[in-house]
Amino acid sequence: MRPPKSTDEPRPFLKWAGGKGQLLEQYGPLFPRRFGRYHEPFVGGGAVFFHLRPPRATLSDDNGELVDCLIAVRDDLPAVIDALGRHVYDKDHYYAVRALSPDELPLAERAARTIYLNRTCFNGLYRVNSKGGFNVPFGRYSNPTICDAPNLRACSRALKRARIERAPFPAVLDRARRGDFVYFDPPYHPLSKTAYFTAYAKGGFREEDQRELARVYSELDRRGVLVMLSNSDTPLVRDIYRGFRIVRVQATRAINSKAARRGAITELVVLNYR
Ligand SMILES: C[S@@+](CC[C@H](N)C(=O)[O-])C[C@H]1O[C@@H](n2cnc3c(N)ncnc32)[C@H](O)[C@@H]1O
Repeated sequence: MRPPKSTDEPRPFLKWAGGKGQLLEQYGPLFPRRFGRYHEPFVGGGAVFFHLRPPRATLSDDNGELVDCLIAVRDDLPAVIDALGRHVYDKDHYYAVRALSPDELPLAERAARTIYLNRTCFNGLYRVNSKGGFNVPFGRYSNPTICDAPNLRACSRALKRARIERAPFPAVLDRARRGDFVYFDPPYHPLSKTAYFTAYAKGGFREEDQRELARVYSELDRRGVLVMLSNSDTPLVRDIYRGFRIVRVQATRAINSKAARRGAITELVVLNYR
């Protein structure tokens, strides 16, 4: 299924909370060997997609800015690279770009703004205020890479084989067929109430969303779709996926407001196949 390894393997071009880069080695033996179409309804930075590079894929997310950025990198990369070339690592420039309204920019410039802010903001966070405006402060880096053109080209090539759309996760039920593979990487269920990390999008992802996702998972299972899901190791997650195969993996917590809480942590992978 996977094309041979090459030096121009794409890596996620956005830093994204919950990015799966560090888990790919442990996930390797868990991916199905053969499948039809690949679906990733919480695509984020797309670490798993860029790793698998399936020949046919549908990628979606409910973050419109992220989805537009993926589409621009796929369809209009020269213009994105050109626009990135006009950005510099400078505090005043950062705040001027942050103040621009993405909806008023042409697609390639909107994508360049997203990539630029992501590479230069504090911790690579994505956080918006109640009006949907990006509000992460300027980050301190020594000479951050704003435009990694070779990697963007590799990403663009991989994305050309994908349908990309803005959609809430249940839309996968309209698309996935028997023999397809769906990988779910939702915002994780919090380990404690205070650990709730809701910065992905306005509204957050609540317990009722986790339960709705488990219903979607079961429906896909009934249809004969291969399903893999990542989540935190909590009693709720173990309960709503009981009956399925649950595998523990070790992760390092990357984004946490309290540095002391960074460290090794057990996470779960739920599979409906052997
Ligand atoms: C854990 S992140 C995915 C990380 C990604 N797998 C990676 O490696 O970068 C979760 C993603 O789910 C998206 N999301 C949150 N709620 C959603 C919903 N109801 N429907 C679809 N996507 C949603 C967020 O915008 C975010 O990109």
